[in-house]
Amino acid sequence: MRTLIVGGSGLLGRELVRQCRAGGHEVAATYLTRPGETPGVTWSPLDLRRREDVHALIDAVRPELVVNAAYRQADWTTTAVGAANVALAVSRAGGRLVHVSSDAVFSGAAVHYDETCVPDPITPYGAAKAAAETAVGAISPAAVVARTSLIIGDGDSPQEALVRSLATGGSSGALFTDDVRCPVHVADLAAALLELAASEYRGIHHVAGADAVSRYELGLLIARRDGLDGGLLPSGRRADSGLPGPIDVRLDCAMTQRRLRTELRGARRFLG
Ligand SMILES: NC(=O)c1ccc[n+]([C@@H]2O[C@H](COP(=O)([O-])OP(=O)(O)OC[C@H]3O[C@@H](n4cnc5c(N)ncnc54)[C@H](OP(=O)(O)O)[C@@H]3O)[C@@H](O)[C@H]2O)c1
Repeated sequence: MRTLIVGGSGLLGRELVRQCRAGGHEVAATYLTRPGETPGVTWSPLDLRRREDVHALIDAVRPELVVNAAYRQADWTTTAVGAANVALAVSRAGGRLVHVSSDAVFSGAAVHYDETCVPDPITPYGAAKAAAETAVGAISPAAVVARTSLIIGDGDSPQEALVRSLATGGSSGALFTDDVRCPVHVADLAAALLELAASEYRGIHHVAGADAVSRYELGLLIARRDGLDGGLLPSGRRADSGLPGPIDVRLDCAMTQRRLRTELRGARRFLG
């Protein structure tokens, strides 16, 4: 299958590229600042904010599958308008679209969220992700929109880097004991996205890990896996920090998990 990974140089994008190559796909991938290093992949620079460039690339590659894993947390145009640009180009050229979204579309007021819950974002990032979902759903109703949570790898995610840095005195700060998410391993996430891509399912899916854990518990799990002293990790309460944003957001993935062979392992398992 001819597959285009938009944002192929990112944390999730790199794993998607790797699994697509391993699965025998013909892979093209995009980056904004620096190409990825996976061999056998056609790397192209692409700025999603430039609609004509998005159309030109998709017209040139003619992918049968596009996975959009690109975003920029503080940039509405990349995250929301860019997602619409991809959906427009794919709907014009034809092909399957999987769009990656986030638990940030929820405020946390209800704590538990399944695929039927309506977004109620309380941050600009969450609003941009919710706007992207709306645009993708309107332009490409057959697309899969997959919401995920904190993405953890085998050492290369920002969350793991933060834990290393806190545990070794490289940075100051605290891991919150009340800030709860459902972290997912990047390999499970990529496999689930590719499974959904190969299916006939459409619309919103929740693809997160099975365990709800606080950032502090996650830090302890990462520290133990990496042989670091978890006792050195500073803790605190987000509720006391005054930081804006959702506190406790748990994606209920039961419906999506029933549709998948890939098991969405919880953090206590994949870090255990
Ligand atoms: N990481 C998490 O914990 C988390 C949690 C929930 C949801 N998500 C969602 O998961 C998806 C993947 O996240 P990630 O952590 O893998 O992201 P990431 O590592 O930050 O990678 C982002 C990718 O987007 C590209 N990009 C940035 N601005 C762009 C632009 N204007 N035009 C085109 N490409 C652009 C980057 O290219 P360069 O690297 O070349 O700059 C990179 O390839 C996103 O949709 C995100 O919202 C992530």
